[in-house]
Amino acid sequence: MDDARTSPEIGLGIQAFTRPPGAPRLPRIARGEGIWLIDTGGNRYLDASSGPVASNLGHGHPRILAAMEAQARQAVFAYPSQFESSANLEFAERLGRLAGPGLDRAFIVSGGSEAVESAIKFARQHAVATGEASRWKVIGRQPGYHGNTLGALAVSGDEHAHEIFGPLLRATQRVPAPLSYRLPPNHTVESYARACANALEEAILREGPETVLAFIMEPVGGLATGALVATDLYYEAVRQICTRHGVKLIFDEVMSGAGRTGRFLAADHWPSARPDIAVLAKGLSAGYAPLGAALVSAEMVRTVAEAGGFMHGFTYNAHVMSCAVGVAVLQEVEEADLAGNAACMGALLRQHLEALAEENPLIGDIRGLGLLMAVELVADQQTKRMIPLEKVAPARVQQLALQHGLALYCRRTSRGVYGDWLMLSPPLTITADEVEILVERLRLTLNDYATELRMEGILH
Ligand SMILES: Cc1ncc(COP(=O)(O)O)c(C=O)c1O
Repeated sequence: MDDARTSPEIGLGIQAFTRPPGAPRLPRIARGEGIWLIDTGGNRYLDASSGPVASNLGHGHPRILAAMEAQARQAVFAYPSQFESSANLEFAERLGRLAGPGLDRAFIVSGGSEAVESAIKFARQHAVATGEASRWKVIGRQPGYHGNTLGALAVSGDEHAHEIFGPLLRATQRVPAPLSYRLPPNHTVESYARACANALEEAILREGPETVLAFIMEPVGGLATGALVATDLYYEAVRQICTRHGVKLIFDEVMSGAGRTGRFLAADHWPSARPDIAVLAKGLSAGYAPLGAALVSAEMVRTVAEAGGFMHGFTYNAHVMSCAVGVAVLQEVEEADLAGNAACMGALLRQHLEALAEENPLIGDIRGLGLLMAVELVADQQTKRMIPLEKVAPARVQQLALQHGLALYCRRTSRGVYGDWLMLSPPLTITADEVEILVERLRLTLNDYATELRMEGILH
């Protein structure tokens, strides 16, 4: 129930921390069914972004609910320094098999930020164990996002967050992400990707290669770049640079992993650029339980174990219920070939979005891989002129979308200076008919927004 002491617009929920006073209340969730979310007023919303790109199996999935019930009747929690659990062992085995050689050991935590922290600390401890204690710097990308804990934020490229939290962080170098839509003058997509890879090598040389521990990047971007996919040469160049300088390559696959891009790992699209460490969360439990993992090689684990063991952990490491959910999710991803469906439905979604871009002037770019897609919003398709930043276009579109029964996720990086985009990343279980419904609702939403911007003289 609401508490009369609080503003009726905000209430006591977590939104009181995150939304400005007076902001309209969000719909209250009653239940979920497949790709639909239903509020307490009975309104139905198509989950067009899988929440924050997490609900990969949709809602109320019978297999996952059954696994949760079965596990709850046995044991929900047992601390890993006191007990092994079958759920942990089976989850680690399945995950290692799907991720493949070199990424076949999983350190299991509660979410993406913790998994990023774990990956960085593991890389550091491995360096110390192998006589390379001088290596500690982690290079990230600008823009880029790796989570909100202080360590993950330190390697994220978000000027706005760094303005506020910078003094608390030990931020290291960031190199430009190879953005593909808004290119610097005199660059093609390829030449800019090459320049961005070169910038990594220059940064390593400038810092002193013997001090650089790792380079972290999202192989397919999320909210920070709007589903950025670089050209193939970028991945290979980055891999070669890291190898040349003994720098660990970390792929942050918190959004892109677990089948979303059409392969189990986005890394599987570039086999010759395989990372040393991969980080997963979100789709790994499809939102049914807090879960994340840092994947490394058996050899790295042995080295660290022989040096005394990984000096790192949380109460909810390898949480038994979360691992049981993870097992059921991975079974479903594999048996229902959800990565295959993501590839097919992603291609269909792209076709529909391209048709929509012909008719709606707000769609500047469509990019992504599989069902990790984004559209970039512009005020002019020809000149790529942005919608004025103070309009906070994604938030307004998110609001309008709710009125059309579409739940969209939006969060800005760097106050939107690199562009504004909407994630289109529905559950991997989506069907062709449902893709059509999604696009129709998006069409209505963007038409409304275009009308609004025309009335304000922003769109001509
Ligand atoms: C690429 C990436 N890394 C890390 C994170 C952080 O994950 P979490 O919010 O589970 O801590 C996110 C979350 O959006 C993400 O997109």
